[in-house]
Amino acid sequence: MSSFATLTPEEAASLLRHNDTVGFSGFTPAGAAKVIPKAIAARAQNEHEAGRPFKIGVVTGASTGRSLDGELAKADAISFRTPYQSDPDLRKAINEGRTRFFDMHLSLLPQQVRYGFLGKFDWAIIEAADVTPNGEIIPTASVGASPTFCNVAENILIELNHFHPATLRGLHDIYEPLDPPHRREIPIYKPSDRIGTPFIKVDPKKIRGVVINNAPDETGAFDAPSDVTNQIGRNVADFLAQEIQAGRIPKSFLPIQSGVGNIANAVLAAMGENKEIPPFEMYSEVIQESVIALMRTDKVTFASGVSLTVGKETLSGIYSDLEFFRPRLLLRPQEITNHPELVRRMGVISINTAIEVDLFGNVNSTHVLGKNVMNGIGGSGDFTRNAFISIFTCPSTAKSDKISTIVPLVSHMDHSEHSVQIIITENGIADLRGRSPHERARLIVDRCAHPSFRDELHGYFDAVKDGQTPQTLAGAFAMHIQLMKSGNMHGVDWKNIHI
Ligand code: COA
Repeated sequence: MSSFATLTPEEAASLLRHNDTVGFSGFTPAGAAKVIPKAIAARAQNEHEAGRPFKIGVVTGASTGRSLDGELAKADAISFRTPYQSDPDLRKAINEGRTRFFDMHLSLLPQQVRYGFLGKFDWAIIEAADVTPNGEIIPTASVGASPTFCNVAENILIELNHFHPATLRGLHDIYEPLDPPHRREIPIYKPSDRIGTPFIKVDPKKIRGVVINNAPDETGAFDAPSDVTNQIGRNVADFLAQEIQAGRIPKSFLPIQSGVGNIANAVLAAMGENKEIPPFEMYSEVIQESVIALMRTDKVTFASGVSLTVGKETLSGIYSDLEFFRPRLLLRPQEITNHPELVRRMGVISINTAIEVDLFGNVNSTHVLGKNVMNGIGGSGDFTRNAFISIFTCPSTAKSDKISTIVPLVSHMDHSEHSVQIIITENGIADLRGRSPHERARLIVDRCAHPSFRDELHGYFDAVKDGQTPQTLAGAFAMHIQLMKSGNMHGVDWKNIHI
């Protein structure tokens, strides 16, 4: 790497101009650029204090860490942001209308960047474990959309992060499909197939400098598992075991995609404990703590993902045991991990989390009360629409039982009744396959809703006698409106809602 200029973070930040568009490495805090975005935020603050405008367009793989989304949002340095984010300060700026945010399916981001749909990219700022003089970049704990950012950007800055050893070479499989009309099939037939190079290849002349650092990923800890998340996990594992018994899932099992978060962690732990479920492979997006634990007990035999989103100790453990993990782990670009063609070909079983689900199986993954964005759709749409079986999980209530996550009609829709097959809460399982909307409504309320909301939900659809779908426009959001008025979804008086 000696042929590139070594810069301080401040020197690197000083190269950017107001209104530049930047593609940053990072998918979750794993592999996210850290020291340069922090310096850009400080520069933006100085510029603003001097009365000059300074904002940049921020495009990433998905969410990132505090030093990127958090610092830039606090400095009011973001002109637009896409795709998925999960930082509290950024979320606030978006929902207050200070930051322009548009949400995208994660598999589509790289190709839309290449097609020019997001405009010109001035910079790619990429965290690397190594970079060679001829322009081979070894990513760190995630790949995200970095290959595409490096491909399209005029200039590249590297954060060479020595927390990640150069021996990571070989953990990644970098592949970008050709664009239409030249695109061919992507030749992956099982999760462990390799089709690309172990590095991102760039023209070394585009690399404007390297910033050296040693900062670990800013990954947060999970909440302790609760009775509710553990029960949801057991319900998912029982459902999958029953599907094997019924012969609908092959005995050898199918690759699993699991979302990220507390529930996803509990689901994987329960699958690990269930004796009816054989050792399995993951063709997923985020590889989180529970997967690594299951790998050590041979319950997970292989995991293909876009990021290794684990705590500092777990990551250090993987790096010091690379001989064990190398044949079991592969990190790919999000365009490949989430690709509809591959998800459908391999028969991936998808398991994601909903904010709310309606009586017909439509799912809201992204918005509270139809208005305020939580994080974004992430990869949930990529997987759900193409899965062998698509599962959504959620606790049956939120905010200390004041909110029912089962509602008459979702206040925002990310996944339609046509894509969603199974709903699972701590109360039970609603299998929507082959069911009409009237049957779905009854199943979802009786199996999944919280007992304290069942009568209220029955009251809603019992009042609708005709139509293919038991819905009334006058009452569809009555529970949401009740929540806005009283801080609680309980107590809707259906008799006074005129249909
Ligand atoms: N109304 C209001 N708030 C709700 C709610 C509802 N119906 N349902 C959940 N929430 C709130 C929770 O109270 C919690 O708030 P808090 O942070 O203030 O405590 C927050 O949403 C997160 O919910 P939680 O139950 O902790 O679940 P989670 O951390 O697993 O997150 C999603 C759930 C849906 C927000 C998250 O899974 C997500 O962003 N999904 C979309 C992207 C995706 O599926 N990615 C994986 C694809 S590969």
